[in-house]
Amino acid sequence: MSLHHINPTSLPSWQELSKHFQETKDTHLKELFEKDDKRAEKLSLSWNDFLVDFSKNRITDKTLELLLELADEIKLSDAIEKQFSGAHINKTEDRAVLHTALRAKSTDKILVDGVNVVPEVYDVKQHIRDFASGIINGDVKGYTGKAFTDVVNIGIGGSDLGPAMVTEALKFYKNRLTTHFVSNVDGDHVHEILKNLDPETTLFVVVSKTFTTQETLSNATTIKKWFLQHATQKDIAKHFAAVSTNTEAIAEFGIDEKNVFPMWDWVGGRFSLWSAVGLSIALAVGPDNFESLLKGANEMDNHFKTADFKENIPVVLALLSVWYNNFYDAETEAIIPYSQYLSRFSAYLQQGIMESNGKSVDRTGSRVGYQTGTIIWGEPGTNSQHAFFQLIHQGTKLIPADFIGFKKSLFGDVDHHNKLMANFFAQTEALMNGKTVEEVTTELEAKGMAEEEMEQLIPFKVFEGNKPTNTLLIDQLTPKSLGSLIALYEHKIFVQGIIWNIFSYDQWGVELGKQLAGKILQDINGSEIGKHDGSTLRLLQEFKN
Ligand code: F6P
Repeated sequence: MSLHHINPTSLPSWQELSKHFQETKDTHLKELFEKDDKRAEKLSLSWNDFLVDFSKNRITDKTLELLLELADEIKLSDAIEKQFSGAHINKTEDRAVLHTALRAKSTDKILVDGVNVVPEVYDVKQHIRDFASGIINGDVKGYTGKAFTDVVNIGIGGSDLGPAMVTEALKFYKNRLTTHFVSNVDGDHVHEILKNLDPETTLFVVVSKTFTTQETLSNATTIKKWFLQHATQKDIAKHFAAVSTNTEAIAEFGIDEKNVFPMWDWVGGRFSLWSAVGLSIALAVGPDNFESLLKGANEMDNHFKTADFKENIPVVLALLSVWYNNFYDAETEAIIPYSQYLSRFSAYLQQGIMESNGKSVDRTGSRVGYQTGTIIWGEPGTNSQHAFFQLIHQGTKLIPADFIGFKKSLFGDVDHHNKLMANFFAQTEALMNGKTVEEVTTELEAKGMAEEEMEQLIPFKVFEGNKPTNTLLIDQLTPKSLGSLIALYEHKIFVQGIIWNIFSYDQWGVELGKQLAGKILQDINGSEIGKHDGSTLRLLQEFKN
């Protein structure tokens, strides 16, 4: 039950797409809209409270047809089936990839190596609910009998980014607890957070799938030492919880068994916020909101599993991204949420997308002869407009962008929201249409500018336009819509990995740096520096001196 390994470039659809690209690459989006007044209607998808308009892409009906053929020829349906049914599609680690099981219905049956994992998932969910409820309502108290006021999530990568992003995104729904995140091994991070905390009222959640990660173990140890300056060893049971697959290491660290939340090797770190890794989310917004988040994801899972590819949002967005990445040679994609609450969304997706699809070896172990993972970046609008939009509008690079916006704001300030959304719509329109010489001339003439001055200025004021964007317009930022949005990108990652014939669920590339850091730490702490290249050696000497 392993995935097929098909070189996408060998497929007839790929060859056709290459030809088609040559024929259409210079077509302007404006032309495509002029030719077809039904384009926006045809090239958009409505699903639940999402409207995904992908009509501002450099595609024709034929492009879409060929991209959909590519999805068929690459055997995408077969791959989806394998993923959802628990096949070991993470071959280099010999694991199933089943973050979708974490948000499955209680009546579903999902087998991993012959065992239905759904009951176990629901046991842990109940544990999360009970634990979080006790802390939130103040029934569970700290070592001096006071209710908890603060929660510190100690983790890094997938054990930090997901919970941190969601907690920020759902700040509007937060309860009385204040949540903090310590991730970096930089001691200034942990000490900066500790300096304002009261040990009597702070709960620490150590999150590490492996429980071997240097950053997390260092931060957890530092925090434990700090805690023990105020409390005793037995009080650790009240103030520390842990989420991990490595129960032995947790016990060694001294965390009480009843505060231990298991996770499973079939959940990748960067897809784990739906598991007990999301404990700090459940603490911050309550178990009901956490459940809604999962429900939203589950609905997107069903859409992805069952919708026809041409109406399937993750599939269509993945295919468009392949179109730019592999035919237009676009290397990056911007993700611009028009919501301040989603300020960590792009950073979160950077791990999801780049750790998954940043691979240069295909599923047969050979080097790929084409581009794979896109570089992801972005910041919330409108701040991003005043930072890097100049380059998207007038730079030399083609940067496809996803614009994510909401019909209603959360505080209901209509004046602000209309201004925000005016910018949201204006940007994609401006990116598409640009501004012609004629338009600039008319504008400058209206200002009464002299002809000579005008001629000098025109080249700088012209915008080519023809910049592709997707618009995701969602009713409101709720736990449920956020769950669907995150799951959408998770499935997009999967589809792209299948097309590029790579393994999306391992991350060997982060290992080398970790190993070297271990060796260099010995050099730093020891009396002698071992063998290094000239540059590293000199830098280490300078640091030690
Ligand atoms: O960055 C590598 C990585 O293994 C990620 O995939 C993971 O999310 C992160 O480290 C943290 O790992 P752990 O949860 O095991 O501490």
